[in-house]
Amino acid sequence: MTHILGISGSLRRRSFNSGLLRAARELHPEVIRIATIEGIPLYNADVEAADFPAAVAALQQQIAAADGLLLVSPEYNNSVPGVAKNAVDWLSRPSGSLRNVFRDKPVGLIGASPGGFGTILGQNAWLPVLRTLGARHWSGGRLMVSGAQRVFDDEGGLVDAEIRERLDAFLRGFIEFCGPG
Ligand SMILES: Cc1cc2nc3c(=O)[nH]c(=O)nc-3n(C[C@H](O)[C@H](O)[C@H](O)COP(=O)(O)O)c2cc1C
Repeated sequence: MTHILGISGSLRRRSFNSGLLRAARELHPEVIRIATIEGIPLYNADVEAADFPAAVAALQQQIAAADGLLLVSPEYNNSVPGVAKNAVDWLSRPSGSLRNVFRDKPVGLIGASPGGFGTILGQNAWLPVLRTLGARHWSGGRLMVSGAQRVFDDEGGLVDAEIRERLDAFLRGFIEFCGPG
């Protein structure tokens, strides 16, 4: 069974992107597990040298053990959100026996935004990061959820049937790309 780790790039309690990730897990509960960037400190090389954060090391282990990574990221100022980039920067650092948990890792990228373009520029901005890390970005499908306030309810639950179908189509392609596990 393929095992995909999903990470939301938002810390907001009612985050659309976290809601999109939960909807993905609802569609494929056997495949998708959710991890969080909550608790990851701001990157500081002094902290890295003195006391590598346990939250980063634990998430690195989860990524290393997964067949693929689903990154569900907001777009901030037409780019990647600082908290998500900070998390990926930490996660890209070697720790213990792990050198680069992203190398050759299949990565799927989706996102939701209240605006009209559904994180298209944010997704584009992740591409050079993923390329630098040596990840295998899956480009066989795209999902940019626009008008998110109409697609999610007040708790971040996905209420739009068409988006659910498009999410499922994306996930089926990505799961196949990740391999049989
Ligand atoms: C600093 C900042 C910059 C933003 N820039 C963009 C942007 O460039 N494009 C966009 O579609 N939405 C932008 N937004 C709006 C976010 O898409 C919106 O806050 C969204 O709800 C964030 O995702 P979340 O619901 O998962 O937390 C921005 C929000 C913030 C706080």
